[in-house]
Amino acid sequence: MIDLKSIPSAKEDLDRYEVENNFHSWSFQPAVSPPRVVSAKGVRFTTEDGRERLDFSSCFVSHNIGHQDERVVDAICEQAKTLTSFAPSLSNKPRAILAKMLAEVTPGDLERSFITLGGAEANEAAVKIAHQYTGRRKVVTRYRTYHGGTASAMSLSAGDSRGWAQVLGGTEIVTVPQPYCYRCSFGQTYPSCELQCVKYIDEAIDLEGGADKVAAIIFEPVTGANGIIVPPKEYFPMLREVCDKHDVLMIADEVMTGFGRTGKWFAMDHWNVVPDIMTMAKGMTCGYLPMGATVVRKQIGDRFKEQFFAHGATYAGHALGCATANALIPIYQEDNLIEKSEKLGQYLLDKAQELKEKHPCVGDVRGLGLFVGIELVKNKATKEPLTPTNAKVMPGMNPKLEIAKKLGELGMMAMAANPVNVIALAPPLIISKDEIDEGVAIMDEALKVGDRFTA
Ligand SMILES: Cc1ncc(COP(=O)(O)O)c(C=O)c1O
Repeated sequence: MIDLKSIPSAKEDLDRYEVENNFHSWSFQPAVSPPRVVSAKGVRFTTEDGRERLDFSSCFVSHNIGHQDERVVDAICEQAKTLTSFAPSLSNKPRAILAKMLAEVTPGDLERSFITLGGAEANEAAVKIAHQYTGRRKVVTRYRTYHGGTASAMSLSAGDSRGWAQVLGGTEIVTVPQPYCYRCSFGQTYPSCELQCVKYIDEAIDLEGGADKVAAIIFEPVTGANGIIVPPKEYFPMLREVCDKHDVLMIADEVMTGFGRTGKWFAMDHWNVVPDIMTMAKGMTCGYLPMGATVVRKQIGDRFKEQFFAHGATYAGHALGCATANALIPIYQEDNLIEKSEKLGQYLLDKAQELKEKHPCVGDVRGLGLFVGIELVKNKATKEPLTPTNAKVMPGMNPKLEIAKKLGELGMMAMAANPVNVIALAPPLIISKDEIDEGVAIMDEALKVGDRFTA
């Protein structure tokens, strides 16, 4: 073994470790290292070659307050000097404060939190709570969605004594369509469709055994990685009624949409619908430290005064992470970032609509707040997708990745790595109008690459 304190770290060494020793998420493992980021500030980041680029993705929609805000960095250093973490069976001040803060910012009577290390874990906890609260195994989900990368870990923990309180057999999944109006699964048009997508969920829950079998429905209020799908305004009020009728819990995955991304604290605030369980991560600590949370309504929280809460983690409510969130969440309020997201989001949406008029490869533009999607097509009239849509990620050239490559060359990163035909524009909420103009001009240039692939 080499001396661990002096691992060679020249550029070529680091490149080699990336290629030979590190797993890169959701990709064929690369033959060359991606560019190395050395610093970031505000809405920009700098790579090893000294080049500065505009971050129009907020690093997978997480860095809502921008990079390296000194107020947060200072709070992290301060907390790190006294207590980084301790066993979750004992209390720590940052965790207690954060649990109260989350009860304040979330809608309705969402009031009790399980604090996790990220979004997938928050959703795992949410589904487990739904199983335990209802005693039912089925969970409805929707096509074209992403809720995180973990397997249902506990199903695999065979023989562990904590297994007695689980609802055995894991989750049974029931899948229903999205309110994807640009490509309606029912071939209809809003509003004459009368929300067939919700009526279908009503019928599906009935056919799956209703209140005897179905625990919950999980959804992204505005679908993120799978295409910035914004539902019609009636969708969530109607879905709430369907869930109440069947006594099925609503789990809103606000991992991407939470903390101002859509122009409200949480996207569900747009429709005044209170979900039974809400999950969050990303904008909660904006990547300064990894954190997430599962927040439940009073009635659900109260149940676990009498019923064993069969979930936990060594770093649940990690003190340093909680202190980070406690310093960061008030910044949304102090700097009016939620209002800014609403106002500048409309500006960005209008600018993106202009791109649709100009470019043959742009079939649709949609968004809410600073969360705007550009859907790429081969043919505007037929809506034929720019890259064929199926669930298999193929190696080789993908026109969208060619556009993303061009964006990189021109000095910008947008959210284009996911396998759907949508490029998401989601800059930090601190962005200025001039910086939006700068980003849209780069996008305008890069979309010319997409135009070459059109019919
Ligand atoms: C809506 C949604 N839920 C859950 C997750 C998973 O979060 P994490 O990557 O922090 O586990 C993501 C990640 O992109 C997401 O977009």
